[in-house]
Amino acid sequence: MLSQPHTKYRAAAPVGLSSRTWPDRAITEAPRWLSTDLRDGNQALAQPMDAARKLRMFELLLRLGFKEIEVGYPASSQVEYAFVRRLIEEGRIPDDVTIQVMVPAREDLIEQTVQSLAGARRAIVHLYNAVAPVWRRVVFGMNVTQTMHLIERHVALIRRLTDAMPETQWVLQYSPETFSAAELAVSLKACETAIAAWGEGREIIINLPSTVECATPNVFADQIEWMARALARHPALTLSVHPHNDRGTGTAAAELALMAGARRVEGCLFGNGERTGNLDLVNVALNLYTQGVSPGLDFSAIDEVRRTVEHCNQLPVAARHPYAGDLVYTAFSGTHQDAIRKGLAAHSEGGQWEVPYLPIDPRDLGRSYDAVIRVNSQSGKGGIAYLLERDHGLVLSRERQRSLGGLAQRVMDAEGRELTSADLLALYRLQHTPYEAANGAAAQAQSGAEAA
Ligand code: KIV
Ligand code: ZN
Repeated sequence: MLSQPHTKYRAAAPVGLSSRTWPDRAITEAPRWLSTDLRDGNQALAQPMDAARKLRMFELLLRLGFKEIEVGYPASSQVEYAFVRRLIEEGRIPDDVTIQVMVPAREDLIEQTVQSLAGARRAIVHLYNAVAPVWRRVVFGMNVTQTMHLIERHVALIRRLTDAMPETQWVLQYSPETFSAAELAVSLKACETAIAAWGEGREIIINLPSTVECATPNVFADQIEWMARALARHPALTLSVHPHNDRGTGTAAAELALMAGARRVEGCLFGNGERTGNLDLVNVALNLYTQGVSPGLDFSAIDEVRRTVEHCNQLPVAARHPYAGDLVYTAFSGTHQDAIRKGLAAHSEGGQWEVPYLPIDPRDLGRSYDAVIRVNSQSGKGGIAYLLERDHGLVLSRERQRSLGGLAQRVMDAEGRELTSADLLALYRLQHTPYEAANGAAAQAQSGAEAA
């Protein structure tokens, strides 16, 4: 690494929005959610979903309650095109659900894309082009005026093609790709150009992506508030954000963006997506839930959701993943275990959730308390007592807790492994009714500990 990183990397420019209002706002209602699992998420997979996996993901998204779903990039491949046709022709799209498809600014691709949607009740055509200086200069060799002409021409084409298919209710989504790295004035000009070419008063979504997350979330929030103010005069416009997670702050960026005026967010379940991923919609939705705001999405069977997503993406969800990982409701540390045990005992059904170290009741997501306390060499006697009482109805005196705790500690130090409540029961019996356990696992554990 460089000793002088500033010679290679520039800090993101601040927006200089002195009268910002977002820091004083709270999120009091759920945004409109758009799942792009089947498009942006799918484009990031080593093995893109086949038709069966796409359908399984689509059905999961419907069950979870998504009302807007980006189902693909139909001009990119036969699989993608056929999937959109299948959804429409087989009548798989509920009346209250709108599908979205993405297309770059290319005439032939736009024609195919609009065709793919024939017969849909309602559809969002999502047009994007990159607007940031590096892309204009290095990737496309286009100046700002040429970039605006590109937008105007392609939005006008979408308008012409969709006007000829009045049986569908059409919505345009325009994304100034690379928005977070672009000059705000250029992004605004791009959005105003798209709005004018689509037609003032016609339904439009302006979707602002951090295609590559390149600043702290407060900078993104300033950018969103700046755009929200500048676009406020358009009544038929919905402001949407599409954060990625390159700096690991996609969730924070989305939340601050909602405070700054965004009304819709795009992302993927468990944050699948290009590089470090898209915004994790499960994370944002359940963060809202733990603040007492109903997200309008149902994660009450989080493990089933996770299994389906892992199957479709052929990627694992990490053990520490917020809300969904195997270990996120588990305490190994003795002091945490003690506090959780007391908190669970004090919690009454229907009361406010105030259990230390657990930001959410695992049972709300279909998890049990079984994994909340697990015993390893970091745990104290409290965790051992909790497991024996919960699983075996054994209430230990302080003296017995202390002596069993000492034995368990020696076993774990010797064997370097976690002890289950069955192991603990066996150790307890070994201490108190040695004959019962003479041939059991506890005897081996005891001799292992003694040998050590
Ligand atoms: O990340 C991005 O910029 C995109 C656009 C197409 C919205 O996925
Ligand atoms: Zn994206």
